[in-house]
Amino acid sequence: MARFPFPSLPSGWFVVELAHKIRRGSVHRFRYFDRELVLYRTKSGQARVVDAFCPHLGAHLGHGGRVDGEDIVCPFHGFRFDVEGACSRTPYGSAPAKRVRLGQLPCRERCGVVLVWFDPLGRPPKWEVPELDLGSWSRIVSHRYRVATHPQETTENSVDFGHFTELHSFSSASMSSPLETDGPQLRTSYRVTKPLLPLRVLGRLAVRVDFDVHVWGLGYSLVEVSVPRFGVQLRELVLPTPISDDLLDLRVASMIRRLPGAPLSGLVAYPLLLLTFRALRAEVERDIPIWEHKKYCEKPGLAPGDGPVGLYRRWARQFYVWSDEDSIPMVVDRGTGSS
Ligand code: FES
Ligand SMILES: [Fe+2]
Repeated sequence: MARFPFPSLPSGWFVVELAHKIRRGSVHRFRYFDRELVLYRTKSGQARVVDAFCPHLGAHLGHGGRVDGEDIVCPFHGFRFDVEGACSRTPYGSAPAKRVRLGQLPCRERCGVVLVWFDPLGRPPKWEVPELDLGSWSRIVSHRYRVATHPQETTENSVDFGHFTELHSFSSASMSSPLETDGPQLRTSYRVTKPLLPLRVLGRLAVRVDFDVHVWGLGYSLVEVSVPRFGVQLRELVLPTPISDDLLDLRVASMIRRLPGAPLSGLVAYPLLLLTFRALRAEVERDIPIWEHKKYCEKPGLAPGDGPVGLYRRWARQFYVWSDEDSIPMVVDRGTGSS
């Protein structure tokens, strides 16, 4: 029996790699969305995500394929494909039929990551992830986890306020603005107090941290974090990409900048990024065993004080392909008043 009751993989923008890891002329292979895919960057710098299998006779472009100028060249018979997926040349000098095209997934680079548009029915992008100004920000640091779960589950974390104090040991957590949804976007804000040291006797050493959460579909969450006491702002990206319907790669990435007017030296900001990123990873590593072993409760036993889980789940329904027979019973938030 399938572990999750969703009728398809979700559509949306999903990250396949950090942009700086894809050098010009390089070819990378991976498996996402139950498909073999290849990512390459042309000589002029364009990134492309294509079907791994050559439409001529099926060779895998990720095993010996190479970039030549703006084309990717198949290692088997040397057919070349341009940035639109059309066959630009064969070694015989004859053109193949026009229908011999290399399949592509729409691809964008935003905020230092390479995103691809996946849709279970192959429909074109319905919305875009906005670009961000990277001007005053540090370089990006990142880590990838392979986790046996589903993007809807990892993204639900953003609205599950109940687990912040229990699992993540924040000493307090409160919502500072209610959850809002706008098409594929979901926004919320919360404030937590985080003990700096785990020792009870030093519990007074705590910092206030404000989170503004911007979720675009189920594959791209941007959390803007400000820590006024340290005079810094962080951007944290939480990026689940499905490999299959119960396995994903979860990338977390972060960058830092000084708050305008903060006395902090630029020299301190980068070490602080490494420290805060280590703290972020420690929190994600608390979530992972929960995600891997939990079951998806279609009718959760919510209580007053829970976050707006029901509203989140209703928002998430837009990313699936539903047939008339498919239906996940609507979640009823009994008395939470928050959805
Ligand atoms: S299989 Fe790719 S060129 Fe023949
Ligand atoms: Fe969490």
